[in-house]
Amino acid sequence: MTDRELVERALAARSGAYAPYSGFEVGAALLAADGTVYTGANIENASYGLSICAERVAVFKAVSEGRREFTALAVASGGDDYCRPCGACRQVLAEFAPDLRLLMANARGDFRETRLAELLPEAFRLRST
Ligand code: THU
Repeated sequence: MTDRELVERALAARSGAYAPYSGFEVGAALLAADGTVYTGANIENASYGLSICAERVAVFKAVSEGRREFTALAVASGGDDYCRPCGACRQVLAEFAPDLRLLMANARGDFRETRLAELLPEAFRLRST
C-alpha cells in the first residue's frame, strides 16, 4: 500500500459521509500493521454533539475487529485545504499509535505528510509507562 493509494482510499471513503448539517464530507483510511486498511467517514447527528469524525470511525472499526497497531492514516476532505485531524481524533489515535504517520489530503489528492507526535505533543496518558 503506497501513500498515494492510502490517500485514494481516504478520498473514496468520503462517499460514505453523512454530513447534512455541515456539508463537510471527510474520509479516512487507516493502515494497520498487518496491511489491512480500515476506512471511515464522518457521521453527523441532529443533536450535533453526537456527530463523529471520519478518523474515529476508521479507528473504532479497526480496533473492534482486533487491530491494535497502525502505521499510517490518510484523511481527506473537500476543497483545497489539507484536512487536519481534530484534537479529539488526535487523542484517540494516540492511544494506539502515538507517532502515527499522517497523510493530510485535499479534494485533488494532494497531500502533506506529518506525524501524530508533531500534531499532539505530550498527549495525555493515564500512566507514564
Ligand atoms: N470532521 C471529521 O470528520 N474529521 C476531522 O478531523 C474534523 C472534522 C467532520 C466532523 C463534522 O461532521 C464535519 O467534519 C465538520 O466539522
